[in-house]
Amino acid sequence: MNKLHTPRTPPTILAPVAPEIERYLHQLTDPRTDDPVLREMEQRARENEFPIVGRLVGVFLKQLAAMIGARRVFEFGSGYGYSAFWFAQAVGEPGEVYCTDGDAENQVLAEDYLGRAGLWGRIRFQVGVAQEIFPQVAGPFDICYNDVDKGDYPEVWRLARERIRPGGLYIADNALWYGRVAVENPVDVVPGWTEAVMEHNRLIFEDPEFETFVNPVRDGVLVARRLR
Ligand SMILES: C[S@@+](CC[C@H](N)C(=O)[O-])C[C@H]1O[C@@H](n2cnc3c(N)ncnc32)[C@H](O)[C@@H]1O
Repeated sequence: MNKLHTPRTPPTILAPVAPEIERYLHQLTDPRTDDPVLREMEQRARENEFPIVGRLVGVFLKQLAAMIGARRVFEFGSGYGYSAFWFAQAVGEPGEVYCTDGDAENQVLAEDYLGRAGLWGRIRFQVGVAQEIFPQVAGPFDICYNDVDKGDYPEVWRLARERIRPGGLYIADNALWYGRVAVENPVDVVPGWTEAVMEHNRLIFEDPEFETFVNPVRDGVLVARRLR
């Protein structure tokens, strides 16, 4: 597992959405989405600079999953379960969210948080390299969600695209890589990651079997819908 990079929120090169707008959107967020466990998870992220998707994107993920009636979600790179919290709410009682992470400690944390939130029964968490776990889990999936190390983005797309049902979604966080995709010669966090994110985005936008859009909130959430 030493190929995984311990994540920290990288510095922003170019903010796609003005911080004031993000704050405004945050204030608008439905208070019914609030939850004490969610706040604990957000507190942990702040204290450890751990890059969870955050509240605005979390609400968006739940909304997308609910809109397509998702029941089976596969997450590549779950951390300690923050994004899975939102998917698990959307899939409901009969639903399943397959979580993967290279760090075993994240599974322990996720079980604690999501257990206390009453969502652990919908979670199937496995520790290891997501790309190796994925072929062992029966598909198809309503949603494949990618949030692994950015150098692995093209590989995850190639694996996931085959196993999303028609009308299902491929979702990737960090599609703008904190603005690096849009500037010349950006200083990268890990050499090659910006090129990998750009290749990933290009492959998806050029894929005739998918329709794709990037929501620029936070660090860009790419959403691709399988047409057939
Ligand atoms: C950005 S964080 C995930 C955050 C999570 N999706 C959320 O929003 O709460 C990325 C996580 O993926 C894990 N990771 C990175 N590459 C991975 C891979 N190839 N397979 C499994 N886990 C990976 C890291 O250990 C880290 O916990």
